Amino acid sequence: MIRHDVTIPYFAEVDEIYNLACPASPVYYQIDPIQTVKTSVMGAINMLDLARRTSARVLQASTSEVYGDPIVHPQVESYWGNVNPVGPRSCYDEGKRCAETLFMDYHRQGNLTVKVVRIFNTYGPKMSINDGRVVSNYIMQALRGKDITVYGDGLQTRSFQYVDDLVEGMIRMMRTDDSFTGPVNIGNPNEFTILELAHLVIRLTGTSSKIVYCPLPGDDPRQRKPDISLAKEKLDGWQPSIQLEEGLKKTIAYFKSL
Ligand SMILES: NC(=O)c1ccc[n+]([C@@H]2O[C@H](COP(=O)([O-])OP(=O)(O)OC[C@H]3O[C@@H](n4cnc5c(N)ncnc54)[C@H](O)[C@@H]3O)[C@@H](O)[C@H]2O)c1
Repeated sequence: MIRHDVTIPYFAEVDEIYNLACPASPVYYQIDPIQTVKTSVMGAINMLDLARRTSARVLQASTSEVYGDPIVHPQVESYWGNVNPVGPRSCYDEGKRCAETLFMDYHRQGNLTVKVVRIFNTYGPKMSINDGRVVSNYIMQALRGKDITVYGDGLQTRSFQYVDDLVEGMIRMMRTDDSFTGPVNIGNPNEFTILELAHLVIRLTGTSSKIVYCPLPGDDPRQRKPDISLAKEKLDGWQPSIQLEEGLKKTIAYFKSL
């Protein structure tokens, strides 16, 4: 294990690079948005340069946020997105978009073997209890008997993927032919409203917590659902195997153990 900030060049002998470094929760990526952009953009350049020096394969953890507040539903890889370039979430969304650009340019210009996966909301055990994203928020609020905070009317949708399915998808992506760069969506296409998620967490934890409604944060996307046809085709029939209720039970058990 080496602790290293990806905005600083890194030298090592490597065969494969999975670049997942980036604050991923809106709470954290908005604390220091300039550092968030640097992490995505300079981090991508440094990891791509490392790949170039070592002839390693390199995978980028991109995001469904590159689609912004999508007009096309479900989201297919060929959709270019609807992203605000100057809003509070832009440091993350545009940073990740620029990282995708860099990956494709290093591939075209430097002939690097690159792999870009667009990850849709993923949760699971070992998330930080202070992570700030909706699944961990709701579980912690429920376990502590606190109000469950729903932003807006709660009718915005998300598709939640259990972490093991993502890991399997990323490993399969790394093993694809050099010619397949992606981007490819990796997510669970089962779509839920935030309100449905809140009710499910309440039921599975048996909490007496009540739902309260809070103002919607800026640029919160209305809907999210991946089209995973490309992933199924290119990643040996990969598809999510753990559905929301089962994944939540495992995650709740983990948070309880803390
Ligand atoms: N979980 C999701 O729903 C999701 C969705 C889309 C994309 N992603 C992407 O997947 C990756 C992992 O996400 P996660 O959910 O595990 O988030 P996470 O916050 O749990 O992990 C991100 C990690 O990146 C590290 N990091 C941040 N800045 C760094 C820097 N400058 N140098 C080195 N490390 C740095 C953090 O310390 C943390 O360990 C991120 O790139 C994220 O953008 C995640």
